[in-house]
Amino acid sequence: MNLCYNERELTCEFSGAQHRERRQSRLSREIHRDFLKRTNYMENICLAYTLSVENYIGLCLSAGWPKPDKKQSTKSLQNSDYLVSAIDEKSGKVVGMGRSVGDGAMAEMIIDVVVHPEYQSMGIGTCMINDLIERIKNQVQSGQKVMITLVAALGKEKFYEKFGFTSHPNESYGNGMYLWHMKSLS
Ligand SMILES: CC(C)(COP(=O)(O)OP(=O)(O)OC[C@H]1O[C@@H](n2cnc3c(N)ncnc32)[C@H](O)[C@@H]1OP(=O)(O)O)[C@@H](O)C(=O)NCCC(=O)NCCS
Repeated sequence: MNLCYNERELTCEFSGAQHRERRQSRLSREIHRDFLKRTNYMENICLAYTLSVENYIGLCLSAGWPKPDKKQSTKSLQNSDYLVSAIDEKSGKVVGMGRSVGDGAMAEMIIDVVVHPEYQSMGIGTCMINDLIERIKNQVQSGQKVMITLVAALGKEKFYEKFGFTSHPNESYGNGMYLWHMKSLS
Protein backbone atom coordinates (compact mmCIF):
# COMPACT_ATOMS: atom_id res chain seq x y z
CA MET A 1 0.00 0.00 0.00
CA ASN A 2 1.30 3.41 -0.93
CA LEU A 3 1.00 6.64 0.89
CA CYS A 4 0.19 9.53 -1.40
CA TYR A 5 0.14 13.16 -0.49
CA ASN A 6 -0.98 16.43 -1.80
CA GLU A 7 -0.05 19.21 0.56
CA ARG A 8 -2.53 21.62 -1.03
CA GLU A 9 -5.36 19.15 -0.43
CA LEU A 10 -4.24 18.62 3.11
CA THR A 11 -4.45 22.27 3.97
CA CYS A 12 -7.82 22.53 2.23
CA GLU A 13 -9.29 19.58 4.06
CA PHE A 14 -8.11 20.68 7.44
CA SER A 15 -8.46 24.43 7.10
CA GLY A 16 -11.03 26.35 9.03
CA ALA A 17 -10.47 24.49 12.26
CA GLN A 18 -9.64 26.40 15.38
CA HIS A 19 -6.46 24.41 15.77
CA ARG A 20 -5.39 24.93 12.19
CA GLU A 21 -1.86 26.01 12.96
CA ARG A 22 -1.19 23.16 15.37
CA ARG A 23 -2.64 20.59 12.99
CA GLN A 24 -0.79 21.87 9.94
CA SER A 25 2.57 21.77 11.64
CA ARG A 26 1.79 18.26 12.85
CA LEU A 27 0.76 17.22 9.34
CA SER A 28 4.00 18.56 7.89
CA ARG A 29 5.93 16.33 10.23
CA GLU A 30 3.75 13.38 9.24
CA ILE A 31 4.31 13.91 5.55
CA HIS A 32 8.03 13.76 6.02
CA ARG A 33 7.93 10.67 8.16
CA ASP A 34 5.42 8.78 6.05
CA PHE A 35 7.25 9.37 2.82
CA LEU A 36 10.10 7.49 4.45
CA LYS A 37 7.94 4.48 5.22
CA ARG A 38 6.32 4.28 1.78
CA THR A 39 5.63 0.63 0.95
CA ASN A 40 4.04 -1.41 -1.80
CA TYR A 41 2.06 -3.50 0.64
CA MET A 42 -1.02 -3.50 -1.52
CA GLU A 43 -0.87 -2.62 -5.17
CA ASN A 44 -3.31 0.03 -6.35
CA ILE A 45 -4.40 1.02 -2.87
CA CYS A 46 -2.94 4.17 -1.48
CA LEU A 47 -3.38 5.86 1.88
CA ALA A 48 -4.02 9.58 1.96
CA TYR A 49 -4.78 12.17 4.58
CA THR A 50 -7.72 13.76 2.83
CA LEU A 51 -11.41 12.97 2.80
CA SER A 52 -14.24 14.93 1.24
CA VAL A 53 -17.49 15.17 3.13
CA GLU A 54 -19.25 13.41 0.24
CA ASN A 55 -16.92 10.42 0.50
CA TYR A 56 -17.26 10.45 4.29
CA ILE A 57 -21.05 10.26 4.03
CA GLY A 58 -20.82 7.63 1.29
CA LEU A 59 -18.62 5.38 3.40
CA CYS A 60 -20.91 5.79 6.43
CA LEU A 61 -23.82 4.65 4.27
CA SER A 62 -21.78 1.73 2.87
CA ALA A 63 -21.35 0.52 6.45
CA GLY A 64 -25.11 0.65 6.98
CA TRP A 65 -24.86 3.62 9.34
CA PRO A 66 -27.45 6.39 9.36
CA LYS A 67 -26.74 9.29 6.99
CA PRO A 68 -24.87 11.95 8.96
CA ASP A 69 -25.71 15.64 8.64
CA LYS A 70 -23.50 17.22 5.95
CA LYS A 71 -22.78 20.50 7.72
CA GLN A 72 -21.96 18.76 10.99
CA SER A 73 -19.83 16.18 9.16
CA THR A 74 -17.80 18.93 7.50
CA LYS A 75 -17.04 20.54 10.86
CA SER A 76 -16.27 17.18 12.41
CA LEU A 77 -13.80 16.26 9.66
CA GLN A 78 -12.09 19.63 9.95
CA ASN A 79 -11.70 19.22 13.69
CA SER A 80 -10.22 15.71 13.50
CA ASP A 81 -6.70 15.36 14.80
CA TYR A 82 -5.76 12.58 12.39
CA LEU A 83 -7.56 11.37 9.33
CA VAL A 84 -6.72 8.59 6.91
CA SER A 85 -8.43 7.42 3.77
CA ALA A 86 -7.73 4.55 1.38
CA ILE A 87 -7.97 5.15 -2.33
CA ASP A 88 -8.15 2.65 -5.16
CA GLU A 89 -5.74 4.33 -7.57
CA LYS A 90 -7.15 2.43 -10.55
CA SER A 91 -10.69 3.68 -10.15
CA GLY A 92 -9.96 6.75 -8.06
CA LYS A 93 -12.57 5.53 -5.60
CA VAL A 94 -12.19 6.28 -1.90
CA VAL A 95 -12.66 2.85 -0.34
CA GLY A 96 -11.80 3.34 3.32
CA MET A 97 -11.53 5.88 6.09
CA GLY A 98 -10.65 6.29 9.73
CA ARG A 99 -9.96 9.24 11.97
CA SER A 100 -9.06 10.25 15.44
CA VAL A 101 -10.33 13.04 17.66
CA GLY A 102 -8.72 14.17 20.86
CA ASP A 103 -6.60 16.77 22.61
CA GLY A 104 -3.46 16.18 20.54
CA ALA A 105 -1.59 15.30 23.72
CA MET A 106 -2.86 12.74 26.24
CA ALA A 107 -6.04 11.35 24.74
CA GLU A 108 -7.16 10.32 21.29
CA MET A 109 -10.23 8.37 20.23
CA ILE A 110 -10.34 6.47 16.97
CA ILE A 111 -13.70 6.73 15.23
CA ASP A 112 -15.44 6.19 11.89
CA VAL A 113 -13.34 3.26 10.71
CA VAL A 114 -14.92 1.91 7.54
CA VAL A 115 -13.75 -0.13 4.58
CA HIS A 116 -16.20 -0.33 1.69
CA PRO A 117 -17.74 -3.86 1.62
CA GLU A 118 -16.20 -4.64 -1.79
CA TYR A 119 -12.73 -3.96 -0.37
CA GLN A 120 -12.94 -5.63 3.03
CA SER A 121 -10.65 -8.45 4.19
CA MET A 122 -7.80 -7.20 2.01
CA GLY A 123 -5.81 -5.66 4.84
CA ILE A 124 -6.95 -2.07 4.22
CA GLY A 125 -8.51 -1.66 7.68
CA THR A 126 -5.33 -2.97 9.28
CA CYS A 127 -3.18 -0.52 7.32
CA MET A 128 -5.38 2.43 8.25
CA ILE A 129 -5.45 1.58 11.97
CA ASN A 130 -1.68 1.03 12.03
CA ASP A 131 -1.20 4.39 10.35
CA LEU A 132 -3.46 6.21 12.82
CA ILE A 133 -1.84 4.53 15.83
CA GLU A 134 1.64 5.33 14.60
CA ARG A 135 0.84 9.01 14.10
CA ILE A 136 -0.87 9.25 17.48
CA LYS A 137 2.13 7.60 19.17
CA ASN A 138 4.33 10.25 17.60
CA GLN A 139 2.51 13.08 19.31
CA VAL A 140 4.08 12.19 22.67
CA GLN A 141 7.61 12.87 23.85
CA SER A 142 9.87 10.42 25.69
CA GLY A 143 8.41 9.59 29.11
CA GLN A 144 4.92 10.78 28.17
CA LYS A 145 1.91 8.58 27.49
CA VAL A 146 -1.23 8.84 25.43
CA MET A 147 -4.41 6.82 25.84
CA ILE A 148 -5.97 5.66 22.59
CA THR A 149 -9.59 4.59 22.91
CA LEU A 150 -12.32 3.42 20.60
CA VAL A 151 -15.77 1.89 20.74
CA ALA A 152 -15.71 -1.32 18.71
CA ALA A 153 -18.83 -2.09 16.73
CA LEU A 154 -20.51 -5.28 17.91
CA GLY A 155 -18.45 -8.25 16.74
CA LYS A 156 -15.44 -6.15 15.72
CA GLU A 157 -13.55 -6.49 19.00
CA LYS A 158 -11.22 -9.18 17.67
CA PHE A 159 -10.22 -6.95 14.77
CA TYR A 160 -8.97 -4.31 17.23
CA GLU A 161 -7.36 -6.71 19.71
CA LYS A 162 -4.56 -7.49 17.31
CA PHE A 163 -3.40 -3.89 17.53
CA GLY A 164 -3.16 -4.21 21.32
CA PHE A 165 -6.54 -2.77 22.32
CA THR A 166 -7.97 -4.32 25.48
CA SER A 167 -11.66 -4.81 26.18
CA HIS A 168 -13.10 -3.85 29.52
CA PRO A 169 -14.46 -4.26 32.15
CA ASN A 170 -11.27 -5.76 33.49
CA GLU A 171 -9.23 -5.49 36.70
CA SER A 172 -8.39 -1.85 35.94
CA TYR A 173 -11.44 -0.37 34.24
CA GLY A 174 -15.21 -0.64 34.45
CA ASN A 175 -17.55 -0.69 31.48
CA GLY A 176 -17.09 1.81 28.71
CA MET A 177 -19.99 4.25 28.68
CA TYR A 178 -21.50 6.64 26.17
CA LEU A 179 -24.32 9.14 25.94
CA TRP A 180 -26.06 10.21 22.75
CA HIS A 181 -27.98 13.47 22.57
CA MET A 182 -30.18 14.45 19.66
CA LYS A 183 -31.58 17.96 19.72
CA SER A 184 -35.23 17.77 18.75
CA LEU A 185 -36.46 19.69 15.70
CA SER A 186 -37.99 23.03 16.71
C1 LIG B 1 -13.94 -3.57 10.56
C2 LIG B 1 -13.37 -3.20 9.22
C3 LIG B 1 -12.96 -1.75 9.23
C4 LIG B 1 -12.12 -4.06 8.96
O1 LIG B 1 -11.50 -3.63 7.76
P1 LIG B 1 -10.90 -4.68 6.74
O2 LIG B 1 -10.13 -3.94 5.72
O3 LIG B 1 -11.97 -5.59 6.25
O4 LIG B 1 -9.95 -5.49 7.71
P2 LIG B 1 -8.62 -6.24 7.31
O5 LIG B 1 -8.73 -6.83 5.96
O6 LIG B 1 -7.49 -5.34 7.56
O7 LIG B 1 -8.69 -7.35 8.40
C5 LIG B 1 -7.55 -7.70 9.02
C6 LIG B 1 -7.78 -8.85 9.89
O8 LIG B 1 -8.84 -8.66 10.82
C7 LIG B 1 -9.76 -9.70 10.68
N1 LIG B 1 -11.10 -9.16 10.89
C8 LIG B 1 -11.71 -8.23 10.16
N2 LIG B 1 -12.94 -8.01 10.68
C9 LIG B 1 -13.04 -8.84 11.74
C10 LIG B 1 -14.05 -9.11 12.68
N3 LIG B 1 -15.23 -8.51 12.62
N4 LIG B 1 -13.82 -10.02 13.65
C11 LIG B 1 -12.64 -10.67 13.70
N5 LIG B 1 -11.66 -10.46 12.85
C12 LIG B 1 -11.86 -9.57 11.88
C13 LIG B 1 -9.58 -10.25 9.31
O9 LIG B 1 -9.98 -11.59 9.23
C14 LIG B 1 -8.09 -10.12 9.15
O10 LIG B 1 -7.39 -11.12 9.85
P3 LIG B 1 -5.93 -11.55 9.40
O11 LIG B 1 -5.08 -10.31 9.43
O12 LIG B 1 -5.54 -12.55 10.44
O13 LIG B 1 -6.09 -12.11 8.05
C15 LIG B 1 -14.36 -3.48 8.07
O14 LIG B 1 -14.79 -4.81 8.16
C16 LIG B 1 -15.56 -2.55 8.04
O15 LIG B 1 -15.50 -1.46 7.49
N6 LIG B 1 -16.69 -2.98 8.62
C17 LIG B 1 -17.93 -2.19 8.57
C18 LIG B 1 -17.86 -0.93 9.40
C19 LIG B 1 -17.46 -1.21 10.82
O16 LIG B 1 -18.04 -2.05 11.49
N7 LIG B 1 -16.45 -0.49 11.28
C20 LIG B 1 -15.90 -0.65 12.61
C21 LIG B 1 -16.39 0.41 13.47
S1 LIG B 1 -15.76 0.20 15.11
